[in-house]
Amino acid sequence: MTRTAIVTGGTRGIGESIAVALQKAGHKVAATYAGNEDAAAKFTNATGIKAYKFDVADYAACEAGIAAIEADQGPTDILVNNAGVTQDAPFHKMSAEQWQKVISCDLDSVFNMTRPIINGMRDRGFGRVINISSINGQKGQFGQANYSAAKAGLLGFTRALSQESARKGITVNAIAPGYIGTEMVAALDQKVLDSIVGQIPVGRLGTPSEIADCVTFLASDQAGFITGSTLSINGGQYIAA
Ligand code: CAA
Repeated sequence: MTRTAIVTGGTRGIGESIAVALQKAGHKVAATYAGNEDAAAKFTNATGIKAYKFDVADYAACEAGIAAIEADQGPTDILVNNAGVTQDAPFHKMSAEQWQKVISCDLDSVFNMTRPIINGMRDRGFGRVINISSINGQKGQFGQANYSAAKAGLLGFTRALSQESARKGITVNAIAPGYIGTEMVAALDQKVLDSIVGQIPVGRLGTPSEIADCVTFLASDQAGFITGSTLSINGGQYIAA
């Protein structure tokens, strides 16, 4: 069945792959982006998926952005909260700006995007909210007190909202990717990256499509009994109970 989807941070990295996979599954898809115009133009040219520029850290911008998307493609059935940034530093060197930037973009954004959409899903009796967390929200990571806090926050949010939404036909799940071959991971110091790959039993980084295919399944009608869950996709690097 054709549904409508929004993927935040959907023009690059894991988000791009998710947007394309949802399109391939037959859905109408909108992608949001923060500022990389070249990447957004390239993405839209390659996929035909429209990209909308607004700041997911800003509630009013999200309300306006969602209204523009819904005017184009109709009410939202599937919301993938994927947008996120890193500002890595050991906590004793972390600035208030580094902390705030990551909490706003990676955690507040999920409130800002989901809150304007949830009542429509409730009224229509169907919804899929998929939150892209991280292995580092599950286990913590040296240099990422801000990111680990935000990504762990997403897991709590997922569990609470899933309970509130279950009777309304809305499922709310999280995916916790491990280290995936994207620009974000490529930006790591090579020695740090080598040591991380050494901790992955599968012996390699993941690929964006390995995340996207799972999002597509969680977004499908067949996944209606899966809610409140966290799916770890990390090559065995961290095996959560
Ligand atoms: N555990 C314990 N100690 C560590 C450590 C670790 N993992 N990493 C570094 N240290 C130690 C260093 O050995 C050093 O000790 P000494 O002072 O005794 O030599 C001390 O901590 C300081 O280390 P640095 O000089 O490297 O600190 P820095 O300020 O230059 O930068 C850092 C640290 C930038 C955070 C760097 O450690 C780093 O890049 N870490 C990896 C962070 C990471 O994994 N980010 C993931 C990005 S991708 C992503 O987030 C996507 C996703 O969801 C998975």
